[in-house]
Amino acid sequence: MRHHTRLCPFFVALLGTVLGLLLAAPLLAEGAMDARLQEVDPLLRQLEPTRAQFLNVARQHGQFLRMLVEMTGRKRGLEIGTSNGYSAIWIGLGLEKTGGKLQTVEIVPETSAMAKANLEKAKLQGTVTCIVGDALEVIPKLQGTFDFVFIDALKPDYWRYYELVKPKLEAGAVIAAHNALSSREAMSKYFELLDADPNLQTTIVQIEPGDGFAVTFVRDKPQ
Ligand SMILES: C[S@@+](CC[C@H](N)C(=O)[O-])C[C@H]1O[C@@H](n2cnc3c(N)ncnc32)[C@H](O)[C@@H]1O
Repeated sequence: MRHHTRLCPFFVALLGTVLGLLLAAPLLAEGAMDARLQEVDPLLRQLEPTRAQFLNVARQHGQFLRMLVEMTGRKRGLEIGTSNGYSAIWIGLGLEKTGGKLQTVEIVPETSAMAKANLEKAKLQGTVTCIVGDALEVIPKLQGTFDFVFIDALKPDYWRYYELVKPKLEAGAVIAAHNALSSREAMSKYFELLDADPNLQTTIVQIEPGDGFAVTFVRDKPQ
């Protein structure tokens, strides 16, 4: 009985900590929603259960992409690997705020069609343009320059996408490459290229749950 009484404060403290973490976790993970996100949220929630099938970024990763675009004020976006448009919705929300546009490339026509429909549902058809095709063939044909690039297609090809997009990068551009933690090995040649260029500064950003981004700041035109 005495033993039980002595343990009690410990368990109370433990319970308090666990409850505190459980209550704090959703706030830390998602935060309060602004009016535009509230409008799009039912669609995002509808897409999230099929995340594994469509290889979408996690919700928190999408939030990070939106935040990255907004806080850096980027306006000319390119996404490589659209899938059904989940991450494009998040990036589009950011660009809507900065007055920017996104072009997103997907090799599978049926998946790109789903993305187009989802972006229309999110009322982002004026902000995001879906392009069907192999990014390795599409990127050289794209007009103009980019100040925000999100790479999320085949990991061993990240370096190829980068080489093609390099001449179109503006000084001050931001490149976010997904799965920088889980696919570090497959992305090694990409990292080598980034590391060799003194005009680039790259940081790996880990975001719960699990994975993260290699975020590159293009200080000056890449060499
Ligand atoms: C990880 S998923 C993209 C997920 C998406 N960014 C999201 O979070 O909603 C990768 C996508 O890249 C596409 N893909 C693979 N190779 C490609 C290429 N060479 N050009 C364009 N898209 C490609 C795949 O068909 C797949 O839909």
